Amino acid sequence: MSNYHIKHLEEYYQVYRESIKDPENFWEEIAEEHFLWRKRWDKVLSWDFKKPDVKWFEGAQLNITENCIDRHLQIRSDKVAIIFEPNNPDEEAEHITYKQLHERVCAFANVLKSKGIQKGDRVCVYLPMIPDLTVSMLACARIGAIHSIVFAGFSSTALSTRLNDSDCKMVITSDGAYRGAKTLDLKTIVDEALETSPCVESVLLVKRIHSDIKVKEGRDEWVQPLLDRVSLDCPPEIMDAEDPLFILYTSGSTGMPKGMVHSTAGYMVYTAYTFKNIFQYRENDVYWCTADIGWITGHSYIVYGALANGATTLMFEGVPSYPDFGRFWQVVEKHKVNQLYTAPTAIRALAKENLSFIEKYDLSSLKVLGTVGEPINVEAWDWYNDNVGKKNCPIVDTWWQTETGGIMIAPIPYVTPTIPTYATLPLPGIQPALMDESGQELKGNQVEGRLCIKFPWPSMARTVWGNHQRYKDIYFSTFEDKYFTGDGALKDAVGFYRITGRVDDVIIVSGHNLGTAPIENAINEHPAVAESAIVGFPHDIKGKALYGFVILKEVGESRIHDNVRKEINQIIAEHIGPIAKLDKIQFTQGLPKTRSGKIMRRILRKIAENNFEDMGDISTLLNPEVVQDIKDNCIE
Ligand code: PRX
Repeated sequence: MSNYHIKHLEEYYQVYRESIKDPENFWEEIAEEHFLWRKRWDKVLSWDFKKPDVKWFEGAQLNITENCIDRHLQIRSDKVAIIFEPNNPDEEAEHITYKQLHERVCAFANVLKSKGIQKGDRVCVYLPMIPDLTVSMLACARIGAIHSIVFAGFSSTALSTRLNDSDCKMVITSDGAYRGAKTLDLKTIVDEALETSPCVESVLLVKRIHSDIKVKEGRDEWVQPLLDRVSLDCPPEIMDAEDPLFILYTSGSTGMPKGMVHSTAGYMVYTAYTFKNIFQYRENDVYWCTADIGWITGHSYIVYGALANGATTLMFEGVPSYPDFGRFWQVVEKHKVNQLYTAPTAIRALAKENLSFIEKYDLSSLKVLGTVGEPINVEAWDWYNDNVGKKNCPIVDTWWQTETGGIMIAPIPYVTPTIPTYATLPLPGIQPALMDESGQELKGNQVEGRLCIKFPWPSMARTVWGNHQRYKDIYFSTFEDKYFTGDGALKDAVGFYRITGRVDDVIIVSGHNLGTAPIENAINEHPAVAESAIVGFPHDIKGKALYGFVILKEVGESRIHDNVRKEINQIIAEHIGPIAKLDKIQFTQGLPKTRSGKIMRRILRKIAENNFEDMGDISTLLNPEVVQDIKDNCIE
């Protein structure tokens, strides 16, 4: 049990040093002591970042659901695995024990099999935050099917693109979703998506809002009657360590979303290890991560990492503002939550509300607070610390990515000192490097550069689905022999890391990664638009919001402009989702371009921030005269 659970700072430094000196031995010990293997590995690690090719625990065999469910049945059979807190506080919460979870996952797995789903097939899950979401993803893993969960806020076009990219055979969805006071019609979105996704043969329907939906004969089927007919036992498919467990799409700065492929064994070991340490989870704790399972945070730290530790993990269907802004705190009190993991955008939104929403509730069960998804500003950090943690709960600012699979840089609570806005120290096994623009590593402390990782870790994504070259180009070609994160970071005088934000054209809006190119492509579909460019600007709740600079084919009256603005946002909502709508749209005659025709986003960013100082040298632009015009007409 030596290295699994770190309890003080000297131990962290010692474990960290060991993990770097002999990574194979470090991960081998953890893998050996804490998981159930059907066959032991032949080799702990083989890697080559040039190809790139990374394999962990090669030769080993396992099933992740045996590790997340079956092995807990001996001692935790009646322990609650999942607490489901519905959108409506008047609806009763559901408590699903490990034994019940086992039965539900097995039954669902048997249904998948009965519908012809086999090992290696891709199954898309497009569900709200209800237990069936967790059950269906685990059911896929049970039989070796690869799940591709698409966040149920994505539009039909976005869904269809993802279905086609990974050739999904099946979609699991519901008759709708509750979201605060609203209901969402997921089935219609799926129907629209399937018009352009012929790969999908069948649709399984979960009943949630009891709405009257169209069921397409021969393709769609309600899942409950099928579940009622199958056995509650399903032997796990034995998987190789490197078999893909899931695909999860993330936006890049250019082109199609990337289907990041995660492996089975390495992902399991790393998410379990980090869950235990980052949240200091103890046997009877109730852990709550407010993310949606449609994002990597939910995959790793609502489902796999939590269940691999036999934890009680809370799933919340609703939103922080419904029925009022006290909902999070009501849930914490009701379920006596010990660890709360949320995003800066939620913290900022809640911090704007009256403190009476918090003061009504007893938050004394809380021990650890987490944040993830974007840099947290000092004000939000302080508010979280003062009002939620009552200065008694360490805040773990966890830096990681869809691609990294698990948390990479973060304080270990009650071990690492915390500093607002700092993700602090790399976790054992993680070897960050800060690089300058010429490709040199900036050694020592008090340096700032581009954040890379120079040694493999078990949960790193192995490829981009169907496009290994893209994986190589995006992550392994900027700096030789290093994984490039796309983020900038600095290291302070004692070696603590602070993430400074994206250095590419990805903009994080309310914690969601949005690439500029896909949004610009959507805008350009408007018949009146000639060209467009979008940049981020600071927003006090979303962190960043989107500012669009749009060139129209013909300049019209301002009344028409307002209509075009609405239509542009409508097109964006249809192509990507409402998350990507623009807050500000400025019509302009030109965009600043370099002589090679590249848009100078640096200048647009300054204008969007209404910061006209230090625009840098614009004389090298192809069309420096447009800058003044854009400045004169910018939106405050
Ligand atoms: O820019 C970093 C930011 O979110 C990006 C990854 O986004 P995604 O793949 O959607 O995963 C989010 C959840 C893991 C990173 O490249 N980011 C994530 N966490 C932090 C952060 N930026 C600053 N501080 C963080 N704690």
